[in-house]
Amino acid sequence: MWPVGAGVDPLTVPVAQLYADFAVREARGASPTYERLSLAIARDPELLALLARLAAPKRQPNLLLAVVRLLGGPVDDASSFHDFAVTHWPMIEAELHGRATQTNEAGRCALLLPVLAAMPQPLALLEVGAAAGLGLYPDRYSYLYGDHRIGTGGPVLDCALTGTAPPTRLPEIVWRAGLDLNPLDVTDPEDLAWLEALVWPEQRTRRDRLRAAAAIAAADPPTLIRGDLVDDLAPLAAQAPAGATLVVFHTSVLYQVPVSRRVLFFETVRALPGHWLSVEAPDVVTFPGLPAPPDHALHNVVALDGRPLAWARGHGQAMEWLPAGAAGP
Ligand SMILES: C[S@@+](CC[C@H](N)C(=O)[O-])C[C@H]1O[C@@H](n2cnc3c(N)ncnc32)[C@H](O)[C@@H]1O
Repeated sequence: MWPVGAGVDPLTVPVAQLYADFAVREARGASPTYERLSLAIARDPELLALLARLAAPKRQPNLLLAVVRLLGGPVDDASSFHDFAVTHWPMIEAELHGRATQTNEAGRCALLLPVLAAMPQPLALLEVGAAAGLGLYPDRYSYLYGDHRIGTGGPVLDCALTGTAPPTRLPEIVWRAGLDLNPLDVTDPEDLAWLEALVWPEQRTRRDRLRAAAAIAAADPPTLIRGDLVDDLAPLAAQAPAGATLVVFHTSVLYQVPVSRRVLFFETVRALPGHWLSVEAPDVVTFPGLPAPPDHALHNVVALDGRPLAWARGHGQAMEWLPAGAAGP
C-alpha cells in the first residue's frame, strides 16, 4: 500500500506570513488586486491583530477577501479596504464565523477527466467536500487540452496538459452524489452570490465558467448530502449502484480538515470498494519522494488510490504528468 501522509495543521503559520504567502504563491499572476491587497494586509498591524483573534481556519485570505466583497466593501485600494474592514469588523467577523471557503471550481474536472476516462465504465461518482456539486458533472462539460477538444456542451475547460496523451472520451456516469458539511444550492441566489464572491476580482473567465456550470447543475440538481467526510461516507457509498465503478474523489478539501480526521478519512476511503481520486496540496496529502513541482506557483497533487500521478494548478488550468516511477519509497 502506498504510504500516504496527512500533512500538518496550518495552525502555527503567523497571519502576516499567511497573507504574504497567499499574495506571492496564489494571487500573483492571477489577481493583481488580491496580490496588492494581501501584501498590504500582511503589513497592517491593526488588521493582523483582528485576524489573529480568530480561529485559524477563519483567518484565510480567500475567506476574508470574499466576505468583504460579499458585503460590498472595496478591494481596489488598500487604505479604503483597511477603513471598511476596521469600521465594519463586527459584521465581517460574524460572516467569517458563519462561512467557510467553498469555492466551487468546475475547471478542476479537467484534472479528473484523464483518470476517469481510463477507468472501466460506467462510473458512480461520490464527491466529498462537494460544495454546490459542480465537480459532479465531468461528463457534461467540454475540454480543451492544447488543441485537442473533447465534448460539445457546457463551459469549455482549458487545461495545459503535459507528460501524457489527452483523454479521448468522456466518462459514462450513472450515479452522482456529493457530501458536504454545508452543501450549497446553485438555484438559491444567496448561495450563488457567495460562490461568485469567492471568485477573484479580475477572473471574468472563472465567473463565466461558474455561471455556465451552475446552469448545468441547476437543470439536473445533484444529490447533495449534508454530512462529514469521515462519519457519513460509507453509508452514502453503499447507495452506489452495483455494476458501476465507484470513484470517491475530492479536490481542495482536506486543507479544511484537521490532520487527525484526514487520517481517519484515508482509512475509511481505503476500506471502500472502488477507487479514491484525490487532488490536494502536497503538504495536505503527502507522498514520500515526490519530485519538485514544475515551478514556484502553488501546485496540487493528483493521486489515484494514494499513488501520485500528476502536478496540477489550483483551478485546473494546467496538469503535468509525473514520469512513471517518479515518486515513491
Ligand atoms: C474549498 S471547497 C472545494 C469545493 C470543491 N471540492 C471544489 O474543488 O470546487 C471545500 C469544501 O469542503 C467542505 N468540507 C470541509 N470539511 C468537510 C468535512 N469534514 N466533511 C465534508 N465536507 C467538508 C467545505 O464545506 C467546502 O464546501
